[in-house]
Amino acid sequence: MAPRKFFVGGNWKMNGDKKSLGELIQTLNAAKVNADTEVVCGAPFIYLEFARKQLDSKFGVAAQNCYKVSKGAFTGEIRPVLLHCFGLSLGIPNDPHEAGGSPQLIGQKVSHALSEGLGVVACIGEKLDEREAGITEKVVFEQTKVIADNVKDWSKVVLAYEPVWAIGTGKTATPQQAQEVHEKLRKWLKENVSETVADSVRIIYGGSVTGASCKELGSQQDVDGFLVGGASLKPEFVTIINARQ
Ligand code: G3P
Repeated sequence: MAPRKFFVGGNWKMNGDKKSLGELIQTLNAAKVNADTEVVCGAPFIYLEFARKQLDSKFGVAAQNCYKVSKGAFTGEIRPVLLHCFGLSLGIPNDPHEAGGSPQLIGQKVSHALSEGLGVVACIGEKLDEREAGITEKVVFEQTKVIADNVKDWSKVVLAYEPVWAIGTGKTATPQQAQEVHEKLRKWLKENVSETVADSVRIIYGGSVTGASCKELGSQQDVDGFLVGGASLKPEFVTIINARQ
């Protein structure tokens, strides 16, 4: 089995403007980054073209969301097919509940984005009360099943485990917590999809990753990278990209 290529996504969310993002992009373009790491930056829709034009080609650019269909009168939504003009892969909202929808809506978006030839970072994760109730495994397996039911070509999918209680809170999962869930997700994929998919799909961690926490997290056997929010807007994002160096 070929080793899985480390993947680091930077989710800029709704942050930044042309000035601040331009400065960030200059820092990234000038940085020495590990050639064995795939790096994708998720820009706000209005800055996708700017990011694609300004970022060095060694970085991918992704939209942070798209709609579940490409035709119809849906105010304010974005047709996945439009995103090709930026050569994008695609992020899916980190919290299924945040998408103003449900895991089912995430599944529909994953299916349609893939059918339009986009790559997908599909996000799952439990809420704090679910972890405290001891049902993390049940929750993330259910979320993963909805995604798996909508995927034919896993080579275009990165699975992101993002515990909701760690997103934007500064409460990073411990390396042991992340490894435990990632290992169980890979076992679930082996039992419910295939051994080949389980061995090859990247399972990345998101939730308050920083330059200080990335090395130990990234050294875990089943942690294949990160999806980074706040820290992706700072120079420390370079440290996170190079976590495996
Ligand atoms: O999509 C990644 C994001 O949800 C994590 O955000 O700020 O906790 O790194 P943050």
